[in-house]
Amino acid sequence: MNVEPIVLALVIFHFLGLALIIGSFALQLRRKQGFEFGTMLIGAITQLVTGLALVGLLQVSGEEVNNAKIAVKLIFAIVVLVAVLVARSRQAKALSTGTSEKKAALPFLHLAGLAALINVFVAVLWH
Ligand code: HEM
Repeated sequence: MNVEPIVLALVIFHFLGLALIIGSFALQLRRKQGFEFGTMLIGAITQLVTGLALVGLLQVSGEEVNNAKIAVKLIFAIVVLVAVLVARSRQAKALSTGTSEKKAALPFLHLAGLAALINVFVAVLWH
């Protein structure tokens, strides 16, 4: 079976997931309250699903996959997902207790954006 079209489709969605994370991160960098995490969450899940599917398909089609690179990317992708979830729940708590949303959520928004950026560098520079 020719898996090439599926690989290409997955790569496109992999880039779209990346755009969702970094785009939403950049837009909210200077925000102090009312953070929106849904977009980053969808992006983080998209990266995990498309990334793992890509690895599977590349292996099935006999292409070499750099396991160390994939392991590093997997760890940083999980960091993105967990940081977004923590930021979302900390913001909800801050809203209910009337404390600073910025203090509660912004460090984790930064962590998620930074981990995604590191993954871009890993993806492109590590060959
Ligand atoms: C925030 C998370 C992630 C970001 C920002 C990201 C970014 C990228 C980028 C920019 C590329 C294109 C690289 C190129 O064409 O030179 C790429 C390709 C790829 N990514 Fe990811 N990625 C992420 C997560 C993952 C995960 C979790 C996996 C697998 C567990 C994965 C597996 C792959 C594979 C197999 C390719 C294509 C082949 C390769 O470059 O080795 N990615 N990724």
